[in-house]
Amino acid sequence: MLDLFADTPPWQEPLAPGAVILRRRALANAEQLLGQVNQVAKLSPFRQMVTPGGYTMSVAMTNCGLVGWTTNQHGYLYSCVDPQTGQRWPAMPVAFLTLAQACAQEAGYADFQPDACLINRYSPGAKLSLHQDKDEKNLRAPIVSVSLGLPAVFQFGGLKRNDPLQRVLLEHGDVVVWGGESRLFYHGIQPLKEGDHPATGAFRFNLTFRHT
Ligand code: SIN
Ligand code: FE2
Repeated sequence: MLDLFADTPPWQEPLAPGAVILRRRALANAEQLLGQVNQVAKLSPFRQMVTPGGYTMSVAMTNCGLVGWTTNQHGYLYSCVDPQTGQRWPAMPVAFLTLAQACAQEAGYADFQPDACLINRYSPGAKLSLHQDKDEKNLRAPIVSVSLGLPAVFQFGGLKRNDPLQRVLLEHGDVVVWGGESRLFYHGIQPLKEGDHPATGAFRFNLTFRHT
């Protein structure tokens, strides 16, 4: 039978073993999510973190959840306290948790219990160099990544830094889930192009949910 809904959002695109793109999966929630990003940022403002090597990152970051990803002169770590405010990170909004768990489930990862959500804000030129998400103790849990606002080119490689890269454009509402065989695959974001998005203006936001 002809499936009239096959091309209507959301739809899934396989990316790698254990990794899938849920296209436009967060579109219906985008406005609500962005409102909550604003609320989080009122309590724990976006800041450009400094790497242990002394480089100021081009991406501005904050977190919500029980723990948040941060940097200090010794390395990268998850901390219960926002080092900038001295307070706990803002709680993870229920809508964040619900979306992240539903996306993990749809990608084949049941019982995802994220305790951290890193929120990245990219302005034109900002990028995230190729890296692995390896600061989490629980490598059985996937990473769930939600893109909002301006589009960006996502690079997805393999276990070795010099493995060949796939490049995919991530647009407003797209969700990427990676785990299992690809949990430690290298990935990054190419420098953001200028633009004016109806929902976010000159920015791209990305939420990554982790079970640390
Ligand atoms: C990340 O690797 O933490 C973020 C990726 C993205 O911004 O899409
Ligand atoms: Fe990452």
